[in-house]
Amino acid sequence: MNVQNERLGYPIVVARDVRRSLRDAIRARGGRFVVLCDAQPAVASLARRVGSGASACLAVALGERRKTLASLEAVLDALARTGAERSTIVVGVGGGVAADLFGLASALYARGVPYFHVATSLVAMVDAAIGGKTAVDLAAGKNLAGTFRNPAGVFAHVDALRTLPFRSLREGLAEVVKAAVIVGGDLFESLEILAAHPFSRWPWLELVAAAIDVKAAIVERDPLEEGERALLNLGHTFGHAYERASGYRITHGAAVALGLRAAGLLAQRVTHFSKRDHLRVLALLALLEMPLRTSIEAGDALAAMALDKKRLRGRLRFVLPRAIGDVRYDCEAPRAAVLEVLGLMRRVPADRG
Ligand SMILES: NC(=O)c1ccc[n+]([C@@H]2O[C@H](COP(=O)([O-])OP(=O)(O)OC[C@H]3O[C@@H](n4cnc5c(N)ncnc54)[C@H](O)[C@@H]3O)[C@@H](O)[C@H]2O)c1
Ligand SMILES: [Zn+2]
Repeated sequence: MNVQNERLGYPIVVARDVRRSLRDAIRARGGRFVVLCDAQPAVASLARRVGSGASACLAVALGERRKTLASLEAVLDALARTGAERSTIVVGVGGGVAADLFGLASALYARGVPYFHVATSLVAMVDAAIGGKTAVDLAAGKNLAGTFRNPAGVFAHVDALRTLPFRSLREGLAEVVKAAVIVGGDLFESLEILAAHPFSRWPWLELVAAAIDVKAAIVERDPLEEGERALLNLGHTFGHAYERASGYRITHGAAVALGLRAAGLLAQRVTHFSKRDHLRVLALLALLEMPLRTSIEAGDALAAMALDKKRLRGRLRFVLPRAIGDVRYDCEAPRAAVLEVLGLMRRVPADRG
């Protein structure tokens, strides 16, 4: 089975093996293409398979610390050495770092060449490759140099999840849980059921397609993040603070899980989020073995939060659930409530959540 999502004006194909759809899409656009991939062996091997017929196939050593302007320049130079022209299609293969870096390179090279991304990590499939944001990090902060630029197509190669390390799968799962809290309904309920089963038995194709649709539907209504797209930051205001306050020892996925609990605690005080819904979210996160408490001091987290780039006129804004499936952005919360929540986050969830 293949699922094709057309909401964003370019195809997002979800398939166990995307090679045929990709080949057809390349052919429909004129044929000449180069492949850029993450040098991770399983990814590079897939890239060689999707790259048969490419005029070049370049493997680049990636990783979070290499999402830099220096890597961007190296990729642009490499593209130039292949003789790529304005009409040459760039096919990027890899996770979220590849999506951000190769997507940005293709936006800049020759003032923009068509870009297809073959997503190989869960984060790339449900988040990074969807919605047109591309970026590299600067010394001053993550994702500070980038642009909005739609790809010509996204291909979620679900079979790639088999070689993805467990910790990387969990990074993506935190975003899937976030999407499920935003949309509620079937997606949330199926996660509650699946959480009791081993990952090897999960219907990943359907799950990936459902999570993509949550993001695509929101981005469709607000492509440039002028309003509703902020919903996708659920759990991220607290999450980014925990990442930063821990010196990035806490991974993004773990931080989002912590952020979802913190948002639920704050929502009980601000939007009358029910304890019942809050406990459902906690139970799901716990079953997925996500962290729910942190040793970070409340004051340190608050200081890190005040640096958040999503701060509006110095006041703290939050994305908070009113119920599972009913999330609001632009909620302001009293500093005292935020501090109380940050304090509770240092304890295991008790009956107050
Ligand atoms: N642009 C956006 O909207 C957006 C959204 C979310 C995240 N991001 C970015 O995405 C990045 C995180 O993405 P990520 O978690 O995919 O990181 P990643 O690309 O570094 O991949 C994680 C690890 O898994 C490896 N890998 C990828 N696919 C594999 C596979 N199939 N088999 C084995 N190993 C595989 C990679 O080599 C890497 O070591 C961050 O830089 C983040 O800023 C961007
Ligand atoms: Zn995230």
